[in-house]
Amino acid sequence: MPSLSVIGMQWGDEGKGKVSHILSSWADWIVRFQGGNNAGHTVVFDNSQYVLHLVPSGILYPGKKCLIGNGVVIDPAALVEELDFLRKRNIEADGRLFISGNCHLIFPYHKYREAYMEKLKTRVGTTRRGIGPAYGDKYARVGIRFVDYLEDDTFKELLKRNLRGKEVFIKKFTSVTKLKDKIMKEREEILPRLKDFLADGASLLYSEEKRGKNILFEGAQGTMLDCDFGTYPFVTSSNPISGGACVGSGFPPGKIETVLGVTKAYTTRVGLGPFPTEIEGTEAEYLREKGGEYGATTGRPRRVGWLDMVQLKMAIRVNGADKMALTKIDVLDDREEIKICTAYKYRGRKITEFPLSRKMQEEAEPVYEKLPGWNKKTKGVNKVEDLPANAKKFVERIQELSGSKIALISMGRSEEETIHIEKEFAAK
Ligand code: GDP
Ligand code: IMO
Ligand code: MG
Repeated sequence: MPSLSVIGMQWGDEGKGKVSHILSSWADWIVRFQGGNNAGHTVVFDNSQYVLHLVPSGILYPGKKCLIGNGVVIDPAALVEELDFLRKRNIEADGRLFISGNCHLIFPYHKYREAYMEKLKTRVGTTRRGIGPAYGDKYARVGIRFVDYLEDDTFKELLKRNLRGKEVFIKKFTSVTKLKDKIMKEREEILPRLKDFLADGASLLYSEEKRGKNILFEGAQGTMLDCDFGTYPFVTSSNPISGGACVGSGFPPGKIETVLGVTKAYTTRVGLGPFPTEIEGTEAEYLREKGGEYGATTGRPRRVGWLDMVQLKMAIRVNGADKMALTKIDVLDDREEIKICTAYKYRGRKITEFPLSRKMQEEAEPVYEKLPGWNKKTKGVNKVEDLPANAKKFVERIQELSGSKIALISMGRSEEETIHIEKEFAAK
């Protein structure tokens, strides 16, 4: 298994942090390739919990190397804060963390712009980390990259141009001069902390792969938040799908042998936008409470629903995910009946492909297949044979309907609460 990507198959928060951390034991390099500190990846081991936003979760493994690839947008102040958090817990990033020089940076004016946009009727319900505006600048070719930030003259010139171009938004929050001073002052403190992490990520991965090193790509967000394939415009501004790993790191297509999709046994999403299987009432309350369904980054309650096979099949197809990690089956332990959405109904018509139309995504009604629950704790089970019979049937049914093989099952937050069906996906 020379290289592998871990990809969210739903609307984020599938448990990618837990799965990536387990697989980090096998990898030499752990690479983030898109998104920014809108991500919140929870890892629980040795009775401690860590939530990582920008730094790949591999940093929690002694000796592993981590790359923040060019596709990531970095808020420098947030990164320093995260490094401080890690340092307090005796996790040192020096010599183990590398940052691609061509990563774009997030500045306060990106957050101002987003705060302003999120007040409008057309709001997306973002994490307000400035992600969208930063990617906007990148593609408008006015962005500031990490390598630019490190050069005094280049940075001053680019900052001047950006502040001038963004005056309208900035003035709603502060004065341009004040903001410029604040950014320059912060830079003095940030530079010494970050400059030594500078790398040419693509070149680094090229030589490491040649040396036979194992590389793990840790996806953030999820397929339904993908700017191209998700429930647009209620998406994020990057490409969390497996194809994004190449673009966001400079690692060539074809070299990532395995795509491991991560899906919950049900579905959740935060923010706004269509969610065909969303449920309300006591069942929703139960799943939210039992699953601890509050966003790791924003603390907002997650919207919950049953597993959506129409959506999941699309995600498997665009990611080429022939293997999956199925997480949070324990949340369903006490349910009398479990539902899987196998199709949608739209104006009396049955649909089996996830629709592109916004109207259809919003109005699609789920068609459910019902399965009996197992009414037993799955915690502590570590072999698939030992799962309650109905839980095993549920897993088999997901494989049948999706056509993707379940390689790992998670039934709790910590590493031990995992069934490794395929040996290669087990911690070493
Ligand atoms: P990520 O963004 O995909 O890494 O996922 P998050 O960390 O944002 O959200 C997943 C949440 O579910 C975290 O609180 C995890 O600790 C927790 N979690 C992960 N796997 C399981 C599981 O199998 N069962 C339960 N009950 N919780 C889990
Ligand atoms: P991880 O990696 C869940 C959602 C936001 C919002 C939309 C756009 O932890 O799975 P953005 O700030 O990215 O412009 O917001 O995307 N979102 C996430 N939801 N998990 C995430 O990351 C998310 N990152 C962004 O809630 O709906
Ligand atoms: Mg998360």
